[in-house]
Amino acid sequence: MKRFASIFLSMILAVGMLAGCGSSTTGSGSKGGTQVGIVLPTKDEPRWLQDQKQFEKLLTEAGFTSEVLFSQGSSATEKTNVESLITSGVKVLVICAQDASAAGAAVEAAKAAGVTVICYDRLITDTDAVDYYVTFDSVAVGEAQGQYLIDNKPEGTGIPLYLYAGAATDNNAFLFFEGAWKVLQPYIADGTFVIANSSEAVALQDKAELTYDEKSKILGQVTTDWDFNVAKSKAEAHLTANDASMKGDVLILAPNDGTSRAIADAFTADADVSSYVITGQDAELASINYIQGGKQSMTVFKNTSTLAADSVAMASAILKGEKASTDTTYNNGKIDVPAKQTPVTVVTADNYKQVLVDSGYYTQEEIDSAK
Ligand code: BGC
Repeated sequence: MKRFASIFLSMILAVGMLAGCGSSTTGSGSKGGTQVGIVLPTKDEPRWLQDQKQFEKLLTEAGFTSEVLFSQGSSATEKTNVESLITSGVKVLVICAQDASAAGAAVEAAKAAGVTVICYDRLITDTDAVDYYVTFDSVAVGEAQGQYLIDNKPEGTGIPLYLYAGAATDNNAFLFFEGAWKVLQPYIADGTFVIANSSEAVALQDKAELTYDEKSKILGQVTTDWDFNVAKSKAEAHLTANDASMKGDVLILAPNDGTSRAIADAFTADADVSSYVITGQDAELASINYIQGGKQSMTVFKNTSTLAADSVAMASAILKGEKASTDTTYNNGKIDVPAKQTPVTVVTADNYKQVLVDSGYYTQEEIDSAK
């Protein structure tokens, strides 16, 4: 009896967990099918919960029936999510891909069912089954990170520079790195900075512009996979491999907030590191606290309400049978995808109140309760 009860309990738990995986939220009711489907990469990074919140608000205000699903780091779940939205009758699919190339099959299925596909934040590559791309200026994110390190570097030359990047399956990781390399490379080439953790980057340090394959080689060494555990253990391994001459006052290019906090913790724990300047991205609540506490130097704020609003405006045009308005194009390896691009803002301890609190993006209570 006891055994039966425990099997029954684990079945209930398993069903609950499965439901949590695709975790869906319905917008303003689903009578007559869902009009707009949103697929986001994971609930486990606060960045995507910001997007979810904005989508739910804006889609409900616009009066669309909608559903937001999470892929939980799995391209297979992503594909299932897309298929379930197709079955629900979506006319527009807004998708932030888990893996740029693996997502091709999912959007091809959507296209075949007559759905208009909008890539959200991350470009899906090597397929013609995408209609639009709504994005932040990702090269500008990397430039802002690199420029911050330059503007806040310690005196002198030979300053150790630790490079970290996002997941190689995410096209954005390449764009962020490209932007950062563009501004950092002259300082590396003239000896102001010395790369501390990538032999591939050292081998390429005299090249102002890197090819995709060259960036891949560097990312192969310094990727965090967008995972803070990977980021932390890589940082620890790099610190173990280096002696005190590559420590002291250092600069760290960290690709986003989650990885930045993990890398910062590793550098804080090393007695030979006297100070560090470290970048971030996403203006996550936990990072605003790190910035206030002097543990993270900056973040790049990407206003998710603008990106979600642009997507909803696009969906609106598409549902009316009109062409959506765009301002640039991105080549995805197959086609030039019409795109709408949004600028980004650097946030530091000096301006976070003005940019994030006064604008109403966060309340001070939200920031304080994330401590
Ligand atoms: C997004 C970042 C995010 C990262 C990890 C990127 O594609 O642009 O905002 O931090 O993925 O999820």
